[in-house]
Amino acid sequence: MSYQVIARKYRPKKFADITAQEHITRTIQNSLRLGRVGHGYIFSGLRGVGKTTAARVFAKAVNCSRMIDDPVYLKEVTEPCGECESCRDFDEGTSLNISEFDAASNNSVDDIRQLRENVRYGPQKGRFRVYIIDEVHMLSTAAFNAFLKTLEEPPAHAIFIFATTELHKIPATIASRCQRFNFKRIPLEDIEKQLQGICEAEDLGVDSESLQLIGRKAQGSMRDAQSILDQVIAFAVEQDDERSIRYEKVAELLNYIDDDHFFAVTDAVADRDPEKMLDVARFVIDNGYDEQDFLEKLLEHMRNFLIVFNLRSTRLVERPEQVRARYERDTARFNPSLIMRMVDLLLQAQKELKFQFEYQFRFELVLLKLIEIGNSAGTSSAATSPGGASEKKPAVQH
Ligand SMILES: Nc1ncnc2c1ncn2[C@@H]1O[C@H](COP(=O)(O)OP(=O)(O)O)[C@@H](O)[C@H]1O
Ligand SMILES: [Mg+2]
Ligand SMILES: [Zn+2]
Repeated sequence: MSYQVIARKYRPKKFADITAQEHITRTIQNSLRLGRVGHGYIFSGLRGVGKTTAARVFAKAVNCSRMIDDPVYLKEVTEPCGECESCRDFDEGTSLNISEFDAASNNSVDDIRQLRENVRYGPQKGRFRVYIIDEVHMLSTAAFNAFLKTLEEPPAHAIFIFATTELHKIPATIASRCQRFNFKRIPLEDIEKQLQGICEAEDLGVDSESLQLIGRKAQGSMRDAQSILDQVIAFAVEQDDERSIRYEKVAELLNYIDDDHFFAVTDAVADRDPEKMLDVARFVIDNGYDEQDFLEKLLEHMRNFLIVFNLRSTRLVERPEQVRARYERDTARFNPSLIMRMVDLLLQAQKELKFQFEYQFRFELVLLKLIEIGNSAGTSSAATSPGGASEKKPAVQH
């Protein structure tokens, strides 16, 4: 059997399966119930959050015979039935009532003319022909203008869905004639849940730490999460009879540096322990991790401290429970202004390191400077009892 990539195999077939975009699916379903479908839509948002998916489900729904013929079903279910001839054509990718047009590669006026020509013909079966125009911001101004007329007087059977990752590049003349839907970045928990479901369907064991690593790497894009999962399955499933994803392998594949190393940096600052700091530098260099990448993640570590300072909660810290608890504990060893100064140093260092060829020792220097900052600003323990490095007292009283 050929291997089908996860993103395609698990593309949602109905509104209810589209995660985290309920504000959009609900509105579309309402308009279907009321029979008030528009002719122009803009779907904007990051890559891989469900724009094309929602457009396809929408196209399927407006042409579903059951939705058209059965008012009770329309009112109470409001989903493409998946069983009628039209729905089956959609699922098999043979429906003539949907055309996908990639504006990134067909963006000339001629391409648009051809599309316009095509739009004149109504559907043979079903009710609407839906045109999905992907990456619409890539169209030239002339191409947009050529399209404007069609959008002003659209044939009754045509629905245009413009998908874009860059909403601001769409001319106001086009945008003002469309209903606009903003697709959200998909929250980490939703990505984890989705991946968990896929692993279950694929009969694969997986632990929550692995799911979280993959989810975090995807940064809000479901497609990215699924592609990473494909890679992980190819790389991290040991044997066919075992069928489980192993955390160490996932961490290795994603080049993940364990949180311990970032806490070692902040510990070294709080304890004024240059030796510990140099151990971290050694670890990064000896294991061939990218120093820039390490600094980036160290910034995220600082960001997590600032979140805890500011919110007095670890709610927005995307880490497993025990790591969150550690942030909560360790904030007592610092004060926000010290963390801020460390952030400044790291941002500066990131910029400077970019222009250096051999920068391993500079990387060490950056880490050592953090201790220097800690010394001059005084970590909370140092500030309250000089030399008493292990004593923990909050610098900020809540
Ligand atoms: N909101 C979502 N819910 C469930 N799966 C999603 C969602 N968004 C994206 N996906 C998955 O990612 C794949 C690509 O999504 P797509 O809709 O093509 O993204 P884009 O926003 O770039 O058009 C889909 O096949 C689906 O498997
Ligand atoms: Mg798309
Ligand atoms: Zn149907």
